[in-house]
Amino acid sequence: MIEQTLSIIKPDGAQRNLIGKIVSRFEEAGLRIAAMKKKQLSKQEAEGFYAVHKARPFYGELVQMMTGGPVVIIVLEGENAIARNRELMGATDPAKADKGTIRKDFAKSIGENTVHGSDSKENAATEINYFFSATELS
Ligand code: CMP
Repeated sequence: MIEQTLSIIKPDGAQRNLIGKIVSRFEEAGLRIAAMKKKQLSKQEAEGFYAVHKARPFYGELVQMMTGGPVVIIVLEGENAIARNRELMGATDPAKADKGTIRKDFAKSIGENTVHGSDSKENAATEINYFFSATELS
């Protein structure tokens, strides 16, 4: 099934010049870039994006990390794109991520874990709409 999913290259990835390497992994895995932009998130934008984690003890740290520098926000499209992207990313905690995944290879810690990816069809649609309008997708 052709799906779309949202990926974010977090500040730790963008700052370390990993944008090209990460985008290449998506393309080499057969995912297409349907939209992409580099953006400095405001505190309000980061808080809204991660609103589901508001009650978590790491929420403040997460918002601070996501606003620490520009991020690259990407809509990936392809066969089973949501699951495929999650396979490419690896586990949230890089110490638990499989060999050859983005987080195993690049993430610094569970907080600075280099990439975000939507975890369900419903969240993918919500997250894509949060950052992109219909006319920005092609
Ligand atoms: P992400 O996939 O973007 O979704 C929520 C984010 O919260 C997660 O990646 C991590 O960056 C962050 N996160 C999750 N668990 C922790 C934790 N225990 N401590 C700090 N940050 C966390």
